[in-house]
Amino acid sequence: MAKLWAGRTSGVIDPAAEDFNSSIRFDSRMYREDIIGSIAHAHMLGAQGIISHSDMEAIVEGLGDILDGIEHGTIPIDPAAEDIHSFVEGELTRRIGEPGKRLHTARSRNDQVAQDLRLYLRGQCDETVGLLKKLIRALTETAGKNAAVVMPGYTHMQRAQPVTFGHHLMAYAMMFLRDIGRIEDARARMNVTPIGSCALAGTTYPTDRRAEAAELGFDGVSRNSLDGVSDRDFCVELAAALALVMTHLSRFSEEIILWSSWEFKFIKLSDAYSTGSSIMPQKKNPDMAELCRGKTGRVYGDLMALLTVLKGTPLAYNKDMQEDKEAIFDAFDTVKACLGVFSPMVATMQVNAKSMRDAAAGGFINATDLADYLVGKGMPFRTAYKLVGNIVEECSEKGMTLEDVPIEEYRKYSELFDEDLYKAIDIDECVKRRTSEGGPGGGWVQRQIEYIMGSIGDD
Ligand code: ARG
Repeated sequence: MAKLWAGRTSGVIDPAAEDFNSSIRFDSRMYREDIIGSIAHAHMLGAQGIISHSDMEAIVEGLGDILDGIEHGTIPIDPAAEDIHSFVEGELTRRIGEPGKRLHTARSRNDQVAQDLRLYLRGQCDETVGLLKKLIRALTETAGKNAAVVMPGYTHMQRAQPVTFGHHLMAYAMMFLRDIGRIEDARARMNVTPIGSCALAGTTYPTDRRAEAAELGFDGVSRNSLDGVSDRDFCVELAAALALVMTHLSRFSEEIILWSSWEFKFIKLSDAYSTGSSIMPQKKNPDMAELCRGKTGRVYGDLMALLTVLKGTPLAYNKDMQEDKEAIFDAFDTVKACLGVFSPMVATMQVNAKSMRDAAAGGFINATDLADYLVGKGMPFRTAYKLVGNIVEECSEKGMTLEDVPIEEYRKYSELFDEDLYKAIDIDECVKRRTSEGGPGGGWVQRQIEYIMGSIGDD
């Protein structure tokens, strides 16, 4: 196919080099953004008198038809095209002739591709935020139903202090809320257009960059033309935000995998989100969670790829930048795919409150509460800590829990112990009394739910 840049060179390129150079395979997904960007550009050129009104109308109509044709499958995107920008321009000229050749006035593919990408990623941000909100809703709903279901809280994977399942789930809801904030921050910074930077040095034509920006819903224009065409910070920022989404999904996945194991039995995943084994008939595997955990590696890789591609590229545009798209598209595709299965998996999992409660009761999860009991009777905390440590040691040797120890035994350790200690170490009581802000008791889980629901709105 004749190259749109044939002129200085013959435009005849070795087929392998042509294939290597082409980005149509992955940038064709930006056809819509490319076309609406070109329509805005034609409007601006017409309004500024850079092209005639009739040429502007012919271009806008031709581009509208191409958009329609691609969307309805009547115009197939040529897989041999160099990129989506040359495909659209070539198709336009093929259809409307001479006026089509005027579209690329006061523009370069360098500012065009940077604008297309920002437009496209704006939509990806909105879709991803929508999916994160769905996950948060599933979490808050399950958290609300399980706000009083006691479970062991862990540090170092050792049973530490009792919490509730609702409390635990809301911790994840907070992470995903911050993820939304990060994506929205990056989106806001990204929402300026480089269009009009042209190849790198702006243009001599009397363009109106701000009119184009306004038509496309940008908040403004980039302020330096060299930066405009070479800035891909937004890709890195978004990939970093997406990498953190995956970190959170991966941590959550790990817990879901543990909780659904025979050893924990805290939850049971719905059959719709588990798989079986081809050989072991008893198996019900948490493949979705494992895949989310595994795909985290891809998204981290995308972030590293973007950072490394940009490192050391001199100003302004370099072809290296074509490598931005596959990485950032893959990061969004992966995160969206994970969220798409994760939310219904969470919404449909069965909670085994009894297993959680039993696990909380089995260890010495109320040891801190026993120390706090002594503190309440006047003993310094460090002394109480040591004394309870000795009691725990003796209990574990004898295979007893703190609830099993008779009062006479307790009294051998300290005169301060009284019958009321049993109430103080009752697991449910231990949770209820943790009323400090953000803790599992005192209605704080409910307040977290209200806060989150207020933050994400109803859309
Ligand atoms: N396909 C190219 C990219 O993705 C478009 C810009 C090409 N510009 C150029 N001067 N070769 O970056």
